[in-house]
Amino acid sequence: MFDSGFGGLTVARALIDLLPGEDLVYVGDTGRYPYGPRSLDEVAGFARQIAGYLVRDHDVKLLVVACNTATAAALDTLRAELPVPIVGVIEPGVRSLVRATETGRVGVIGTVGTVRSGAYQRAVAATGADVDLTIAACPGFVEFVERGETHTDQVLVLAERLLAPVIDAKVDALLLGCTHYPFLARALSDVVGREVVLVSSADETAFEVRALIAGGGPDVGTAAVGRHETDHVGTHRFISSGDVHHFRELGARLLGPELASAEPAPWAD
Ligand code: DGL
Repeated sequence: MFDSGFGGLTVARALIDLLPGEDLVYVGDTGRYPYGPRSLDEVAGFARQIAGYLVRDHDVKLLVVACNTATAAALDTLRAELPVPIVGVIEPGVRSLVRATETGRVGVIGTVGTVRSGAYQRAVAATGADVDLTIAACPGFVEFVERGETHTDQVLVLAERLLAPVIDAKVDALLLGCTHYPFLARALSDVVGREVVLVSSADETAFEVRALIAGGGPDVGTAAVGRHETDHVGTHRFISSGDVHHFRELGARLLGPELASAEPAPWAD
């Protein structure tokens, strides 16, 4: 799986917990984060490079695009180009969102790139659910997470400003449409109120991965199911295109002890 940085670790946590027998290779493209302000074409280029590297050099049997911006920019292209099943985070998140709402007033927050792409508007419409969607871009949130700042006064002040549209719309379910945002969940909940359900795409994405693996088939390989049966303990490798020391330190705080070491990405300086 890959993300622009630490955000995909929210998905990694769910996957490791749900599928402890699977081997995981995680790429955090911290050398080029944030993806959100970049053009979708540029993000698609990064996504193709990293996905190609994971398939070619790590022989992955399944790829998770653990980044909403990269999912919006490149999911269809990656699916067309690569020989393995590819799971994005947008559709799983939207499934959870429409299940979570009772009033039908839902919100999505994400990066500028994700919001501008229209991917969430399309994905919500595709569910056919009768919901009113309010969507807001939250530039700056990702940078706070990458610095390890998750509940400071500055986060709260920015959140109060950026979340105003979803508060005004009186949503009862808010999808964190950027994989970095669950790390800010306490601050976001303080701002929107405890009565608003915060929805993350991480668990639903992990369920989708499990279903694909359990389904087996020529691409995913039924050996994966066998691994559980033989108590294989999954290995976890973390690769960063930025400062690997920072990646290991902050990553271990955010993910947990599985992130014991980090390796440099081959394309990093
Ligand atoms: N985690 C990425 C996402 O889900 C953050 C993108 C960024 O680097 O701005 O969109």
